[in-house]
Amino acid sequence: MSIIVTLEKANKYFDDNSVLRDVNFDIEKGEFLSLVGPSGCGKSTLLRVLLGFEKLDHGKMTIEPNLKKTLVFQNFALFPWLTVFENISFGLKMQGMPKVDIDRKVTDILHELDLHGAQNLHPKELSGGMKQRVGLGRALVMDPDILFLDEPFSAVDAFTARDLRQKLLEIWEKRKITVVMVTHLIEEAIELSDRVIVMSSDKNQDSIVEIYTNKLARPRDNRSKEFFNEVDFLETKIK
Ligand SMILES: Nc1ncnc2c1ncn2[C@@H]1O[C@H](COP(=O)(O)OP(=O)(O)O)[C@@H](O)[C@H]1O
Ligand SMILES: [Mg+2]
Repeated sequence: MSIIVTLEKANKYFDDNSVLRDVNFDIEKGEFLSLVGPSGCGKSTLLRVLLGFEKLDHGKMTIEPNLKKTLVFQNFALFPWLTVFENISFGLKMQGMPKVDIDRKVTDILHELDLHGAQNLHPKELSGGMKQRVGLGRALVMDPDILFLDEPFSAVDAFTARDLRQKLLEIWEKRKITVVMVTHLIEEAIELSDRVIVMSSDKNQDSIVEIYTNKLARPRDNRSKEFFNEVDFLETKIK
């Protein structure tokens, strides 16, 4: 495994609110990494730093040059006036890709995400699960090296979330991309991830309280005793 991103003593403040405190970790190429922790502990801020949308106040981020990074949002962030096809093709169009190439690429993505029957619909005509598939499609069409997701399944119902998790795993395995996902669900992190970074909002300690390596074999049975043992273990780290 090679390391593609390194954070060393990374600190980020908003005025006197120290949101990221001495954050140290690496991201390995091809891994599925999750960030968990209570609301307000800085998970989204950390993603924004990794994406290059926010600057650190102290410390250092080293990132492999020319890595392509895309983000999937919690609330889908689709363009309501565009169709599914147009939402997914938007980024490629902005890059000036020729129309035939866009059509071919988007058609592949529509099939990958089981959206081909919905390509001419607008977001308001879609279920939450379909909207998030479009969100995934819009990110994947850019062929990212790292796919960032910020609580991607928290705006859909539990059944839909289960399908989407399965889909995300399939995509990760097939495309061999690196995934960095924020979630507040420990079960979700353990079901999907190779490693889980546990964060705290306690200002008297470093932001990261644990970097957990998940040894459970894949595919994972989220009803097995071994699975719950891991969930219990991480729960104790958060308290
Ligand atoms: N642009 C900003 N300006 C000021 N404060 C911010 C900004 N973004 C986030 N914060 C603050 O940083 C803290 C962490 O926020 P966030 O990263 O969104 O946490 P999480 O995603 O873990 O819920 C919160 O206290 C939030 O109010
Ligand atoms: Mg957040």
